[in-house]
Amino acid sequence: MSTDYNKIADEYKYSKSLPWRKYLEAHTLFNIAGDMNGKSVLDLACGEGFYTRLYKLKGAAEVVGIDLSEQMIVLANEAEKVDPLGISYFVGNALDLDLGRKFDLISASYLLNYSENESQLQTMCNVIAKHLKPGGRFVTINNNPECKHPEMSMRKYGFERIQKGFNDGDEVIFKLYLPDESHIDLTNYHLSKKMHERCLEAAGLTNIHWHDMEISAEGVSLFEESYWQDLLKCEPVKGISCEKNNPAL
Ligand SMILES: C[S@@+](CC[C@H](N)C(=O)[O-])C[C@H]1O[C@@H](n2cnc3c(N)ncnc32)[C@H](O)[C@@H]1O
Repeated sequence: MSTDYNKIADEYKYSKSLPWRKYLEAHTLFNIAGDMNGKSVLDLACGEGFYTRLYKLKGAAEVVGIDLSEQMIVLANEAEKVDPLGISYFVGNALDLDLGRKFDLISASYLLNYSENESQLQTMCNVIAKHLKPGGRFVTINNNPECKHPEMSMRKYGFERIQKGFNDGDEVIFKLYLPDESHIDLTNYHLSKKMHERCLEAAGLTNIHWHDMEISAEGVSLFEESYWQDLLKCEPVKGISCEKNNPAL
């Protein structure tokens, strides 16, 4: 069953404070995204705006955040009120979005893994390509369809990943633990690496690269090197980058 973020928006926000989010996830995503000075950025599935705010703080000229969950957008707008960065947030669905304009960079961390089948994945990729300027780039982090040790426990990092199967559409559950040891469960869907590449290509996106997670220098200095080993061995999530070079699209 798909995840209702309206009910878990605050708890999800807490999960972004875990060390692996900052020292691996964010570090890897921003490495992939590269210099964003002066760029227009669309953050699709922006959640409560964790990365949306960082894109603006890292120099983007204009940032728009879109999420399916009204409650996530409420939290994002609350943060914008407390510390105004000039970001616009809207409730919207990446399966039928049409903003009528294009961006230099589209980011979508943990969106594609909400596609339940090839048709939905293709639709998301088409929506992304439609909103990219020629030469624009798409960057993302998602569940890794080729997770090397899917049975390995990630509990010490604050989450667990349960792969229900390896057929396209099979559920992958992420259990995110809270300080009181309770957890929220996010249901993603397994879709093969090949299917991702097929859909991105069919949408007109080229130069597709898969990116391993990397630890930032700060992450290495703050924790024992051995602390990160299980996460790097298992590779539960993976980055993708690609670009749009066909001006006709
Ligand atoms: C795991 S959260 C990631 C949030 C944010 N990108 C981050 O990294 O913190 C996934 C988000 O995707 C949103 N989402 C799921 N399906 C979506 C869709 N079809 N269109 C837009 N947002 C969607 C959810 O509401 C949720 O906020």
